[in-house]
Amino acid sequence: MRNLIDITDLSVEEIDQLIATAEDIIADPAKYSHACAGKQLATLFFEPSTRTRLSFESAMLSLGGSVLGFSEAGSSSSAKGETVGDTVHAVSCYADIIAMRHPKEGAPYAAAQVAEVPIINAGDGGHNHPTQTLADLLTIHRDKGRLDNFTVGFCGDLKFGRTVHSLVHALSRYENIKFVFISPLELKLPRYVKEEALKKKGIPYTQTTDLESVIPQLDILYMTRVQRERFFNEEDYLRLKDSYILTPAKLTNAKADLSILHPLPRVNEIQVAVDKDPRAAYWRQVKNGKFIRMALIMKLLGINI
Ligand code: NCD
Repeated sequence: MRNLIDITDLSVEEIDQLIATAEDIIADPAKYSHACAGKQLATLFFEPSTRTRLSFESAMLSLGGSVLGFSEAGSSSSAKGETVGDTVHAVSCYADIIAMRHPKEGAPYAAAQVAEVPIINAGDGGHNHPTQTLADLLTIHRDKGRLDNFTVGFCGDLKFGRTVHSLVHALSRYENIKFVFISPLELKLPRYVKEEALKKKGIPYTQTTDLESVIPQLDILYMTRVQRERFFNEEDYLRLKDSYILTPAKLTNAKADLSILHPLPRVNEIQVAVDKDPRAAYWRQVKNGKFIRMALIMKLLGINI
């Protein structure tokens, strides 16, 4: 049985295959509309979500399957003190596949040890978020036609931003990717991510606090929100939250074919005026998230169309 806990659970070939399936779904959705008939997806969200949960549910419904689940821990038996393992064990008696989000790093991994059905990590604390990475990769592939030979800038909260950690791991497996990490000193990419994804493989990267000075070299700019819920005190959050605000003016010297990504939700880090710029890819990213999740659900359930 396959799970998706960490993006490296999938080989590069499997990711390329998921992208190809998502492209086929986009081209001919009717072909897939009964692919998961009779199958149930459970979404267990112990943390807030809009896009991830609803895109999973929309994905399963568009495959002809059905969905069940909860969207806050308080309405589940975890409020009575049940362990994550027991909750997931119980749900795996009903559902054919489970997508779960949890504030504790490693919770989906622990769940996978007891579940009798595939587990998908829909975000674990400040650690990983592999299905957002699949949405990011599909978006880059659709915009650029490839996943190699880029200079990629990551900007914002690189310490707690789980989408960043997973995407760095994923992109580090493609040829000739240069990374530029832009963050306040307190929110730099964690050392364990640098060691595992970059240093071990000798992949080049630079770190800076200054977005504007590096914008001209970037092919992709991945903006992120400062992760308030992971801070230990409100004062630090308030001091750091507006470290970077992308405006049309700041994009004047950017490449004409830059792709601007953001996993969303945005708080203040991209002005709404940027949305009109064709280089803004984040609303396309939301749409792509559904299609790649359709491809993933089929793969983990072993369904081929
Ligand atoms: C992200 C997450 O939950 O990590 N959101 C998402 O799933 N698209 C990013 C965030 O919350 O900042």
